[in-house]
Amino acid sequence: MALLIQNGTVVTAESTTLADVLIDGTTIREVRSGIPPQGHEIVDATGLLVLPGGVDAHTHLDMPFGGTYSSDDFETGTRAAAIGGTTTIVDFAIQSRGTKMRTALDTWWGKAEGKACIDYGLHMIVTDLGSSGFEDMDSMVSEGVASFKLFMAYPGVLMVDDATIFRALRQTAKNGALVCMHAENGSVIDVLVQQALAEGKTAPIYHALTRPTVAEAEAVQRAIAMAEMAGAPVYIVHLSSEDALNQVREARDRGLPAFAETCPQYLLLSIEDQMPGKSFEDAKYVFTPPLREKKNQQKLWDGLKHDHLQVVSTDHCPFCFADQKALGKDDFTKIPNGGPGIENRMQLIYHHGVNAGRLTLNRFVEITASAPARIFGMYPQKGTIAPGSDADVVLWGPSAEHTISAATHHMRVDYSMFEGFKVRGNARQVYSRGELIVDRGEFLARPGRGQYLRRTPRGGAWK
Ligand code: URP
Ligand code: ZN
Ligand code: ZN
Repeated sequence: MALLIQNGTVVTAESTTLADVLIDGTTIREVRSGIPPQGHEIVDATGLLVLPGGVDAHTHLDMPFGGTYSSDDFETGTRAAAIGGTTTIVDFAIQSRGTKMRTALDTWWGKAEGKACIDYGLHMIVTDLGSSGFEDMDSMVSEGVASFKLFMAYPGVLMVDDATIFRALRQTAKNGALVCMHAENGSVIDVLVQQALAEGKTAPIYHALTRPTVAEAEAVQRAIAMAEMAGAPVYIVHLSSEDALNQVREARDRGLPAFAETCPQYLLLSIEDQMPGKSFEDAKYVFTPPLREKKNQQKLWDGLKHDHLQVVSTDHCPFCFADQKALGKDDFTKIPNGGPGIENRMQLIYHHGVNAGRLTLNRFVEITASAPARIFGMYPQKGTIAPGSDADVVLWGPSAEHTISAATHHMRVDYSMFEGFKVRGNARQVYSRGELIVDRGEFLARPGRGQYLRRTPRGGAWK
């Protein structure tokens, strides 16, 4: 029997309409008002918004970092994502130096196998192009890995040189994949970090103070320049500051296919509010790029509104405070970098974006679902509500109130970056490929039901 969602307000990136949505098996069959109810199972969505499931294009589940692993695996992380209204993630496989990307892809498929609760794609982190890097990249594209992440930071671990970046960009100009850039000048930062340590500055706040916004802006500018020379698009991940944003805006004003995402932590948290510098509690906010001064926040919101920024993802990379962040008690460089957020992205952006009058409903859907789906080659299968699309649908209660807390969240981590934040607007029911997987905060589905998404290159976000 098909499922008919009646009387809801259907919101896509383009329109807001009172309409019914008919779900037939795993896909959406029809979207219009007055679909005859006969023979269908009825869901009454009166007073609710009917949204496309959220797409979080930047997560790190079960990721090795600094001698430990991010604390959410594909089961706990995707379950928490679903409860928050996200039905698709794109996680990162990591190529180890001197090995084939294929090995990393198999490893990450293994991590997701039997665990993923929602559909997932994979980016490939490139650490080494070696002698067969180009064939490796092409073979990844044919496996649906339509994007690669390269690091301009973390020297000696993940950082690659400009030649590698440029060569990778040139290959994507041919194979249609998208390079995602972690843009910070790692060499400069390393000098600042060594100096801080030599001066005995070992507290978590020095993680932030040794990574100036100019180091981010310089790398963004360089990444875009290399992409321009290569004739390739580029996507800047986790952009955190006005300085960096200015570089993206200028490039886009020149018509370059430069894209960028930011994350809720940069929109809502700050050095002033979260990192008073007095205790090791600050380690909860050690991630990279770091928290910035508060004055950057409104600039990032403006950037989202005016499409200088296209996407909000989470960079979800949780580490427990008690036994993982604590690895850096005496030395901030040993604190595993990352913070949790996969569950709260939709609530936070809805509340602080739509309720606060900073974003329209349509722009909210665009930056949390449609644009990431498009940019990363999943649209219109994901990211919209239209006939033929996967029936990934969220029934959203616009007046549901919720207080974010580690005591009630579903992420496997012992703190929340947004502890005590009150939000209005929350996912009530979540459908993934037509299956009801969340009902009022309760996860109903089987781990392992999530499918790997073969993404298409040249995702349609640029010519
Ligand atoms: O601190 C962060 N962001 N950890 C995850 C790895 C990355 O750079 O995205
Ligand atoms: Zn990064
Ligand atoms: Zn990341």
